[in-house]
Amino acid sequence: MLPTSVSTSLAVSPARPTDVGLIQALLEAEDLDRSAFVLGDFVVAKDATGRFAGCARLKHYDDCIELSSVAVSPAHRGHGVGSTIVAALLQRSMAPMIYLVCEPKEVAFFCRFGFVVLPRQDRPISLEPKLCAYEAKLGAMVVMKCER
Ligand SMILES: CC(C)(COP(=O)(O)OP(=O)(O)OC[C@H]1O[C@@H](n2cnc3c(N)ncnc32)[C@H](O)[C@@H]1OP(=O)(O)O)[C@@H](O)C(=O)NCCC(=O)NCCS
Repeated sequence: MLPTSVSTSLAVSPARPTDVGLIQALLEAEDLDRSAFVLGDFVVAKDATGRFAGCARLKHYDDCIELSSVAVSPAHRGHGVGSTIVAALLQRSMAPMIYLVCEPKEVAFFCRFGFVVLPRQDRPISLEPKLCAYEAKLGAMVVMKCER
């Protein structure tokens, strides 16, 4: 079930070369995944004035696709932007299964889009390096899966 508080004054579209600097600055500020940057994996949200509001990515691995780098600029938070970006990105993808890595406190946000927490033994191997890196910094992380 999709969230009800989705912002309507936003445009979500594939990222363009002119968005790269804004995406990278936001991901760096939030210490989110910037590895193996592929512009075509990203969507960006722009507000009614055309200002960059946030981004998200579907990152492709050998054994899975991961929703990652979900970030909203601080000025735009709390207005449904994050929900709009995630819903739009999921809608654009035909992938039958999408995974993500998040902190336990973020589980409720992603549950809204149909993600469920995965048992440790079911985690895709390719996500292990990312999990190890984040768990060293932040403590226990959660892997979630959305089956479509
Ligand atoms: C997490 C983030 C993307 C949410 O963006 P946002 O535009 O503020 O989110 P929305 O306005 O769409 O929020 C929708 C709902 O999720 C809740 N929510 C927002 N951020 C949340 C979080 N980090 N954890 C749990 N719930 C959250 C909101 O309270 C809101 O609930 P409500 O509808 O009951 O009021 C944004 O806070 C952000 O960029 N944070 C820093 C980067 C980050 O942590 N990214 C996620 C890691 S993958």
